[in-house]
Amino acid sequence: MSQSRFAAIILAAGEGTRLNSARPKVLHEIAGQPMIRHVIDALRPLDPAEIIVVIGRDMDSVARAVAPAPIVIQSPPRGTGDAVRAARPALADRLAQGGVTDIIVLFGDTALLRAETIAELLDSRRRAPEVAVAVAGMRPADPAPYGRLVLDRDGALMSIVEAKDASAAERAIGLCNGGIMAIDSRHAFGLVDRIGNDNAKREFYLTDIVAIARTQGLSCRVAELPAEELLGVNTRGELAAAEALMQERLRRRAMEAGATLIAPETVFLAADTRFGRDVVIEPNVVFGPGVRVADNVVIRSFSHLEGAEIASGAIVGPFARLRPGAVLEADVHVGNFVEVKASRLGAGVKASHLSYLGDSDIGAGTNIGAGTITCNYDGFSKFRTVIGERAFIGSNTALVAPVTVGDGAYVATGSVVTSDVPADALTIARARQVDKPGRAAALRAELKGKKS
Ligand code: UD1
Ligand code: MG
Repeated sequence: MSQSRFAAIILAAGEGTRLNSARPKVLHEIAGQPMIRHVIDALRPLDPAEIIVVIGRDMDSVARAVAPAPIVIQSPPRGTGDAVRAARPALADRLAQGGVTDIIVLFGDTALLRAETIAELLDSRRRAPEVAVAVAGMRPADPAPYGRLVLDRDGALMSIVEAKDASAAERAIGLCNGGIMAIDSRHAFGLVDRIGNDNAKREFYLTDIVAIARTQGLSCRVAELPAEELLGVNTRGELAAAEALMQERLRRRAMEAGATLIAPETVFLAADTRFGRDVVIEPNVVFGPGVRVADNVVIRSFSHLEGAEIASGAIVGPFARLRPGAVLEADVHVGNFVEVKASRLGAGVKASHLSYLGDSDIGAGTNIGAGTITCNYDGFSKFRTVIGERAFIGSNTALVAPVTVGDGAYVATGSVVTSDVPADALTIARARQVDKPGRAAALRAELKGKKS
C-alpha cells in the first residue's frame, strides 16, 4: 500500500430541514444516485485508506446507501466538530497502524465534488510539512450563508468565522469556507478535542480548528477551488441546480466517450450510464440508472431506459421503454411503443411496434409482430415466456405465460397461445373465419329496420 494515504470522514448527521422531506437529505438523488454516493464515488479513485460516514440516529437508510462504508452515529448532532469527534473510535486502529498522513473531512451533500478537486486540496496540505490544515476556499455568487476565511497579510489562513458570528467587516469577505478540509492526521483529533461551543449556535464548529492550530504554532492554508463543486444542497432549488450541473458534466463525458448527442441539453443521463463509440442519441431520451450501451447503437427520440444492456448495432425507439433486466443483443430492433422488462432479446430480434415483452427469453433472429403481448402476470404471480430462434410471432398475439414457442415456429396473427408450440410448427390459435356470401345487403336492411 502507498505510504501516504488518507482517511475520509463524510458528515451526514444533519437533518436537512430545508428540503422539507421525510427522506434524509443525503439520499436525495442527483443523476439517479443518492448525493452521498456521488461523494463516495469522487473519493474512490484517490484510494482512501478508509471512508467513515457520520450519520444521525434513525438513519438506517443512509447506512444502507453507503454500505460497505462503515458508519458511526452522532447523537444528538451538536455541530461539525462534534461529528468529526464521533468518528475517532472508528479510525483509531487505522491511525495506530500508520501510513495515514491525512484526514479529509467532507459533507454528504456536495454531490458535484470531483476527485481532481479533492486531490488538489490534499496536495495543498502536503506541499508544506508545517501546514496542519488545508481548507477548501471558494468565492460563491452569494457568500451570505457561508463561513468566511480570514487571511493574514501573507495569505495564510488565520481563522474561519461563521456567518452568524461574523462582524460587519468579516461579512464583507468574499472568500468562503467550502466545507472540505484536509488535516494532518498527527494533529487532527488533538485539534478537534479543543473545540468549544461558545458561539451563536452553541455548536462545536469544526471550523474552529484553524484558530486553535494557529495558537499551537501550526499553519493553515486555503486552496481556492471551484465554487460550483463545493455548493452544498440544502433546498429543492439547489437540488435542481446541482442536477443541471451534473447533467452537463455527464453529457460532456458521454460525448468524449464517442457518443453523438444531437441535442445534448434534452438528454438526461444517470451517473452510471455507459456508452461505447459511435452511439447516436436522438433528442429527448432519458436514461435511468444501470444502462450500458455498446458501440454503434442508435437510441431514437422519446425513449426511456433503465437497467438495460444494449449490444452493438441495436436500434431502440422512437418511444421505446426499456426497463430493468432488458438485455438486447447485437443488432436488435426495438421500435415505437415497445416495452421490454426482464427479457433477453437474442441477436437480430425485431420487435418493431406496440408490444409488451416481460419476463421472456427470445432467441436470435425471431420476429415479434406488432401488438404482441407476453401475458406474464395473473394478478398474483409472474411467469416466463420462452421463444426459440428464428420464430415468427404474428401481429396481435397474446402469449399466456408460462409458455414456450419452439425454434422456427410460426404463430398466426391474432393467436392466443396458451400451450407450448413445438419447433417449426404453424400454430393458429384463434376462431376460424366464417363468410356468408351475399348476406351483407340483407343484414343492412334488417339493421335499418331496427333503428327507428
Ligand atoms: C458549514 C461550515 C461553514 C461552511 C459551510 C459550507 C461549520 C461550522 N460551518 O456550515 O463554514 O461555509 O458548511 O457549506 O462547519 N453535520 C453533522 N453533524 C452535525 C452538524 C452537521 O454531521 O452536528 C453535517 C451535516 O449533515 C452536513 C455538514 O455536516 O452534511 C455541514 O453541516 P451544515 O449544518 O450544513 O453546516 P453549514 O451551516 O452549512
Ligand atoms: Mg450546509
